[in-house]
Amino acid sequence: MDKPILIGPFTQLLPMTGLPLKGALNDGQLPVIQNGGLVVSKGKILKIGLFEDLRSNEVQIHPLEGKNVCLPGFVDSHTHICFAGSRARDYAYRNAGKTYLEIAKAGGGIWDTVTQTRKASQKELGEGIVYRSEKHLKNGITTIEVKSGYGLSVDEELKMLRAIKQANSKTKIDLVPTCLAAHMKPKDWNQGEAYLNVIINELFPIIKKENLANRVDAFVEESAFSAEEIKPYFQKAKEMGFDITVHADQFTTGGSQVAVDFGAVSADHLEASTEKEIRLLAQSNTIATALPGASLGLGCAYTPARKILDAGGALSIASDHNPGSAPMGDLLAQASILGTFEKLSNTEVLSGITFRAAAALRLSDRGKLEPGTRADFVVFPTENYQEITYHQGQMKPSHVWKNGAPIF
Ligand code: NIG
Ligand code: FE
Repeated sequence: MDKPILIGPFTQLLPMTGLPLKGALNDGQLPVIQNGGLVVSKGKILKIGLFEDLRSNEVQIHPLEGKNVCLPGFVDSHTHICFAGSRARDYAYRNAGKTYLEIAKAGGGIWDTVTQTRKASQKELGEGIVYRSEKHLKNGITTIEVKSGYGLSVDEELKMLRAIKQANSKTKIDLVPTCLAAHMKPKDWNQGEAYLNVIINELFPIIKKENLANRVDAFVEESAFSAEEIKPYFQKAKEMGFDITVHADQFTTGGSQVAVDFGAVSADHLEASTEKEIRLLAQSNTIATALPGASLGLGCAYTPARKILDAGGALSIASDHNPGSAPMGDLLAQASILGTFEKLSNTEVLSGITFRAAAALRLSDRGKLEPGTRADFVVFPTENYQEITYHQGQMKPSHVWKNGAPIF
């Protein structure tokens, strides 16, 4: 039988354990094990502690050279990496002064990607997801949520969700699928309500039957679905046992109230949230997700992350990687930059891309390193964890392990 593997020594090992899910965090609270080690067996963490204490005849040593900092593999809890085509033209228009909504009305925006995604085969979409996932894996992301939402018909949403499933079997990164059939009112339907009825009655049962997703999302916004219009969709999703997540308060408020009313696992975006919405979220079990990549892509305000944390909310930070509002797709760079604008501690930033992000996907087996969690971890070539956010995404991991095996 294979012996458990002892990996290390790590100059600093950050297990991200013992920290609360909600509220502000300072760096004095961050547990740091100096000269730590991890014992891994069958894809999971068996033991964590001082490297020297973990040595024994029972383990096989996988030695690491030089100075290094180890953290749980990062979790990106909100992306749209299943798509075809580019929206570079939108980006140029936007930088020439046109707004996101004006561009959408002029034929750009989400509908442009829907048109291009509908032309792609399931195989092509799957290949695109694998390609983007591998890039994320190199940056230390070991779990990534992927939404549909560029199909906007029963068949096309199914094509996307099946492509995500297919991609999941072809990459070592874990993909967590979400149905975003309510991304906007499809232009080939006169009426949003009739479209949603078809989604509820035809698409949701197939998703369940084929086990294509257990999460349902909607873009709650005047330009997509209003808080009132979206209710039957979330009502049905809830009745069928789906977890709910919401694109909320991106340009106007209303979505966070819907999220809290439906007991959503997360409310994402929140750039337009005011004190009222911040309080509402902080008092709920809904995790607030900041998407700094969308602020950088659109050139607009950041999610009020500082206020959310100070009010007692839980904050996940995700890339929103998509061809329109967030083409960059570099979670660590974006989370670090959000930290500078919102005055977040390193512990808040790192929690937002590890255990708090895992909680936004209702995954309790990752985002921290303790006996029983998945052996997903990332190693950076430095002796001080502060260097990681300081380099704003330019310091790349020297090693990434997924399910107890080295990726590199
Ligand atoms: O999260 N806000 C809605 N949906 C995406 C944008 C998708 C797109 O522009 O293609 C977002 O930013
Ligand atoms: Fe999004």
